Amino acid sequence: MKKEKNDKANICIIGAGYVGLVSGACLAEIGHRVVCVDSDPKKIAMLKKGVMPIYEDGLQSVVKKNVKAGRLFFTNAIKDGMHHDGRRAEAIFIAVGTPPRDDGSADLSAIEKVAEEIARNMSDYTVIVEKSTVPVETCEWIYKTVTRHNKKHIPFDVASNPEFLREGTAVRDFLKPDRVVLGCPSRQCEHVMRKIYKAMKGAPLLVTDVKSAELIKHASNSFLSTKISFINAVAQVCEKTGADVEMVAKGMGMDKRIGMSFLKAGIGFGGFCFPKDLEAFYWLSRRKGYNFELLKTVKDINEQAKLWMVKQVQDELWNLEGKTVAMLGLAFKPETDDMRFAPSIDIAAEFKRLGANVRGYDPVSQENAKSVIKNIYFAKDAYDCVAGADCACLITEWAEFGRLNMKKVLAHLKHPILIDGRNLYNPAKMRELGFTYKSVGRH
Ligand code: UDX
Repeated sequence: MKKEKNDKANICIIGAGYVGLVSGACLAEIGHRVVCVDSDPKKIAMLKKGVMPIYEDGLQSVVKKNVKAGRLFFTNAIKDGMHHDGRRAEAIFIAVGTPPRDDGSADLSAIEKVAEEIARNMSDYTVIVEKSTVPVETCEWIYKTVTRHNKKHIPFDVASNPEFLREGTAVRDFLKPDRVVLGCPSRQCEHVMRKIYKAMKGAPLLVTDVKSAELIKHASNSFLSTKISFINAVAQVCEKTGADVEMVAKGMGMDKRIGMSFLKAGIGFGGFCFPKDLEAFYWLSRRKGYNFELLKTVKDINEQAKLWMVKQVQDELWNLEGKTVAMLGLAFKPETDDMRFAPSIDIAAEFKRLGANVRGYDPVSQENAKSVIKNIYFAKDAYDCVAGADCACLITEWAEFGRLNMKKVLAHLKHPILIDGRNLYNPAKMRELGFTYKSVGRH
């Protein structure tokens, strides 16, 4: 085995999805030698060519730079990732998918398979790091699984190191985190984990027990979802009373105990984390004997927030049968091509259920949208999207929609109706231009 300089670690990351790929690239960026493993041969072939399987700002350049520097590698086989080019990985990060099941629980079977294979290939003390979002006690299950398949009794620990990165700013979030949570079961494990993150200058480390670390992730995401649903509920009261939700949010947020972030009212949260984590946390709490009703209400408010859009359109157009609705933006938020759990999916389905024709356009997620939203017209650009439509609905606040020539939009529409689900436009300006304009919690 080749000797490495002490302050850099040999790391293997299993799963080159969002979390795994960004984590791998960024751990290489701070100087470690990282091998990313993924069972999908097409994905690995793309990555080897420098082509990113996801749209994420800054990711490609970090990947290319570190591949060139000989710190970042890709392979299909876990065994190869754990013993790459004669170097043994001292830390193995698990970042495989944990998709939701129908009952809201997380499907952890991919983690179990990976744990078995790690167990079969360990040759010396190894830290297995759980990075996928998982319910509390998953590390315990990984520990039991590895123990069962670890026929040579190689020493190991299972740590929890939850990831908090946001899509669109994932590279920055990883390299400049508010905190790094390290759930470590032993001093030896803590030593390895601290060594890995020491290279990330200035990152505040919080070392905890394993279960607390696991819970921090679910509790954080559920709390942020709660903030969004709270402000969306406040927006409803604003609409009924004549108050302005943006002013209310500002006034609330200036209190440092509350903070400004995640108080932007709109048509609800989507994406692969919030809806899934909320469900999984609710499900887990119930299984453990606590009925976390608040989380269910947060979800219900989010469902209503999506339907707000449909109700506004009905209030303007009455019957939707045969009418045409233009959806500007389809991704769950700007700066991502991710369509998973995007509010646009449910909104488009509801428009269609009510008999409307739907036209949609998204600057980046259009291709991904085609596989999840069926039977709508995908437009060439925003103007094509609104052409001949009875009304326009702003679904995702992409910067390019803020720069549209609104006079041209008005001219393309059949009726001058604009429903703004993300409070992107200025109400007074839109009315001045001649739009019948509605936004969330504003007048
Ligand atoms: C989130 C968490 O922020 C991140 O820490 C975790 O690791 C993964 O989940 P992400 O899903 O990328 O990240 O998106 P985020 O920027 O947090 O937004 C989530 C959703 O909430 C989006 O649909 C967004 O439009 C919505 N949102 C966010 C609001 O409606 N209002 C807000 O004030 C903030």
